[in-house]
Amino acid sequence: MSADTRVAVVSGGAAGIGNSIAIRLAQDGFKVAILTRTPGAAEDAALQIEEHGGVARGYQADVSDRQQVDSVLARIREELGTLSVIVANAAVAPKKPFLETSVEDWENTLRINLTGTFNLVQSGITDLLDQNYGRVILISSSSAQRGAPDMAAYASSKGGQLAFTKALAMEFSRQGITVNTVVPSSIDTPSVAKKRASGQMPSVEQMSKFIPVGRMGRGEDIAGAVSYLASDDASFVTGQTLSVNGGSFIG
Ligand SMILES: NC(=O)c1ccc[n+]([C@@H]2O[C@H](COP(=O)([O-])OP(=O)(O)OC[C@H]3O[C@@H](n4cnc5c(N)ncnc54)[C@H](O)[C@@H]3O)[C@@H](O)[C@H]2O)c1
Repeated sequence: MSADTRVAVVSGGAAGIGNSIAIRLAQDGFKVAILTRTPGAAEDAALQIEEHGGVARGYQADVSDRQQVDSVLARIREELGTLSVIVANAAVAPKKPFLETSVEDWENTLRINLTGTFNLVQSGITDLLDQNYGRVILISSSSAQRGAPDMAAYASSKGGQLAFTKALAMEFSRQGITVNTVVPSSIDTPSVAKKRASGQMPSVEQMSKFIPVGRMGRGEDIAGAVSYLASDDASFVTGQTLSVNGGSFIG
């Protein structure tokens, strides 16, 4: 099946890494559904892709709300067609010392990052099963591999994604569906820049010193890995964790 007949959904695809992924998949020829919870943001991002000759539509939904996910995927099927690629990228990354983290903080992070992944994948995977073909790609975090202070809830949600990937890869490997995770680290996105500006993160120069390749990552670095995993070249790759981190964690 060629990419231009396929539909890819990217959660959190209006900003940062998700936006780079949406742009790249559109360049690869996919019809891209951008899903995000901020009103108007996904539509604006889709318009930008269309202005550059790609096919994209924007949709508003909160991935932690199963009803919203089910109804938005139904609209995507009607407007773009059956899904072939699901990219679960939407996440929140709050920073709070463990002892100050309330049960509500913990549950909110888990609900968006982990249950949100479950909602999107379970709601969409029936399309992949119908075609006996598909790609599920999650975006985790290096905090799940090496820890992160003040981010126990986030790291736990991202670790859950790694286990989810392995379980699903085993469950669906006979049905033409691959399930993999890309694990970014130190990608310079607008949300990271915001944390830097508020003093929650060191400067680009300081961070770059600790990354073996000597620079922070870009959204395009992650998008390239997703493009590969979404392609036919990756049909023998499943249940894997692909770390894209400039060598900062070698596991
Ligand atoms: N930037 C990094 O250095 C880095 C490092 C490791 C992992 N990651 C992971 O990469 C992904 C993207 O990170 P980013 O830096 O681009 O973050 P970002 O905050 O810029 O983007 C996250 C996107 O998800 C959307 N989103 C959040 N909650 C949502 C919800 N409930 N429903 C729908 N959409 C929702 C936001 O609106 C936003 O568009 C995340 O999964 C993050 O954990 C990023």
